Amino acid sequence: IRPKIRHRFHRYPHTSRYLPQCIIIGVRKGGTGALIHFLDIHPNIAIASTEVHFFDNNYKRGLNWYRKRMPYSFPNQITIEKTPAYFVKKHVPESVKKMNQSIKLLLIVREPVERTISDYTQIWGKLVRNSSYPTFEELAIDPATKIVKPSFAATERSLYDKHMANWLKYFNLSQIHIVDGDNFRRNPFQEIVEIEKFLHLEHKISEKDYYFDPDKKFYCIKGFINRCLPDSKGRQHVKVQEYVKTKLRKFFRPHNEMFFKMISRRFENW
Ligand code: A3P
Repeated sequence: IRPKIRHRFHRYPHTSRYLPQCIIIGVRKGGTGALIHFLDIHPNIAIASTEVHFFDNNYKRGLNWYRKRMPYSFPNQITIEKTPAYFVKKHVPESVKKMNQSIKLLLIVREPVERTISDYTQIWGKLVRNSSYPTFEELAIDPATKIVKPSFAATERSLYDKHMANWLKYFNLSQIHIVDGDNFRRNPFQEIVEIEKFLHLEHKISEKDYYFDPDKKFYCIKGFINRCLPDSKGRQHVKVQEYVKTKLRKFFRPHNEMFFKMISRRFENW
């Protein structure tokens, strides 16, 4: 097994920077951070150390700029980048296809109501965290009509059917591997095995590479130094009233059904 190269400026002999052959396109709050770090255990995977936001924010800088954001890797390694914003940006799939029409895409999804609340919790925790910021209820439900506001950004990002339809205009479903984020959280190993198959990689990541951390209440990576994801991953969510969750669940139902049809697969309990 060759040494892992963890820094994009650190270079072993016979390595180069390559454009990604696989991209984690989303979904935000689906478990993308844990996914890319768990995949990084594989000796034939090299990951970009940050979200590059090339196709959404930096496209004009050109492919060489993008390539230079990638880690040095051996020719037998697959370079993976993750930028969850890609999934919901309309113009991104066309640009990705222009770069590489046979690229492999990973999409990790999660039950949409929980994802929406997690998304709001992130905005609230990061930027505003003050009492004058509207509550989840105020943003998610129209106060006059009492119906769900599809324009609320966190809700809109959970319309998986809408965003998936856009990707399927440019890519075959066979190129997009869907990861069950709820299962990944409980059983990362099961999902990782499927990804190894999808990427045509030898099965190298084993259950022994992770342990369940009772304090973090999530799986963490075993190693010379054990590593859990930071506190921003696996946050306590803001409290949301049950009637709002019920309304959202009902609102997402037809969208979920449409998504299931598109991907020829169902997620129970959504
Ligand atoms: P919550 O903070 O809502 O629990 P992303 O990395 O795409 O932002 O996703 C964050 C989510 O990853 C977390 O959402 C958490 O539920 C999920 N997750 C799955 N496996 C995890 C792990 N091993 N450690 C931390 N978070 C994990």
